[in-house]
Amino acid sequence: MEIRLDKGNVFEHISEAELNSLQGRMEDCSDALLEKTCKGNDYLGWVNLPGKIKAEEIIAIKNAAERFLDESEVVVIIGIGGSYLGARAVIDALTHNFSCIQSQKARKHPLILFAGQNLSEDYLSDLLEILDKKDYSIVVISKSGTTTEPAIAFRILEQHIEDKYGKDISKRRIIAITDKARGSLKKLAGKTGYETFVIPDDVGGRFSVLTPVGLLPIAIAGLDIGELLEGAKEMSAAIKGNSSFEKNIAFYYAAIRYLLFNKGKVIEMFVNYNPSLHYFTEWWKQLYGESEGKQGKGIFPAGADLTTDLHSMGQLMQDGVRNIFETILWVEKPRKELTVPEDKANYDELNYIAGKRINEVNEKAMLGTEQAHKAGGLPVIKISIPELNERNLGALIYFFEYACALSGLLLDVNPFDQPGVEEYKKNMFKLLGK
Ligand code: PA5
Repeated sequence: MEIRLDKGNVFEHISEAELNSLQGRMEDCSDALLEKTCKGNDYLGWVNLPGKIKAEEIIAIKNAAERFLDESEVVVIIGIGGSYLGARAVIDALTHNFSCIQSQKARKHPLILFAGQNLSEDYLSDLLEILDKKDYSIVVISKSGTTTEPAIAFRILEQHIEDKYGKDISKRRIIAITDKARGSLKKLAGKTGYETFVIPDDVGGRFSVLTPVGLLPIAIAGLDIGELLEGAKEMSAAIKGNSSFEKNIAFYYAAIRYLLFNKGKVIEMFVNYNPSLHYFTEWWKQLYGESEGKQGKGIFPAGADLTTDLHSMGQLMQDGVRNIFETILWVEKPRKELTVPEDKANYDELNYIAGKRINEVNEKAMLGTEQAHKAGGLPVIKISIPELNERNLGALIYFFEYACALSGLLLDVNPFDQPGVEEYKKNMFKLLGK
């Protein structure tokens, strides 16, 4: 497995004895996940997902993606939370940073835009303005089929696409991903005859990226979903085949986080050094926040894009309250090559790095920051992957999912529900007069 977890300086904050004393509990939590005896055991479908998805379903996903490729310059993915973040994380990580202004020919695949993840009138109005002038299709995703944000976005876009192409053509341009039987979206898709993919009953939203929820948008963006699943499968085998901390990075990561939390490190700052990983961080934040944050427990999952945020959050990380630990996600090799040019005048005095790859400068910034943060009293963990590709991201996704489930079980919460999310909805519905 090409993903490495470097324990950094954590043993300045916890002891090896403390870690080793968790071995038995980690094994129990992992066994409970695999034997489906843990809390939330009706939502464990994701555990065996990478090897379980049927070949026919993958073919159907690829066929749908092909059809959209022929017909659409833009595909709007409608969904919120677990119904869009995983897809967005992978698509942003692996496509051109400026795909939104690339030509269709250069991009070779439809541009993916997102809706239904907010209630901004301006956002939706701006989107409609863009869609007036583009050939587009829609993928609407909601497991419950009743979530307000995507339901509103879909109501608006469904009317827009029907006005644009007529009912018959627009029917081919809409795909719904939802529960196999329940919810208004299922009802609507059944009535209208939209092509539909099913979210398995036993997979919750934030663990659903390796179902059609993530796979269809990722395939539409031209990425290799077979490789993504292979990477996840490899990671699943590696995690399930080994329970020693040295060999099982999911055990290691979950145990270290738990011990740090118990020492008052209640905030985890997840940092990347690559702007295309911004949404990977957002996916990670949702996964850990919704899974662990309950019954007065849970590490607060925060994120920063470095080096950008060193100029905003850097001071606090270096010198603020020492209740933070840092997890670095480092990608060793960039996809492209660029060096710092020589400049005769050298007014900026940068000639000492002329000829160096930008990534070398980025790496030195990462190493320098890591040293500074360690010296400033932050526990630092580093997770490295050789490069950004589908296989490595599939492995990372599975690794974080498994470690998240273990983390929740260590805290003795149900990692697979989110009862707290209902509170704002109750108030909103009341205020809206529902
Ligand atoms: O992880 C979860 O279960 C949630 O974040 C959901 O994905 C999110 O609330 C969207 O729900 P739905 O797919 O039912 O619209």
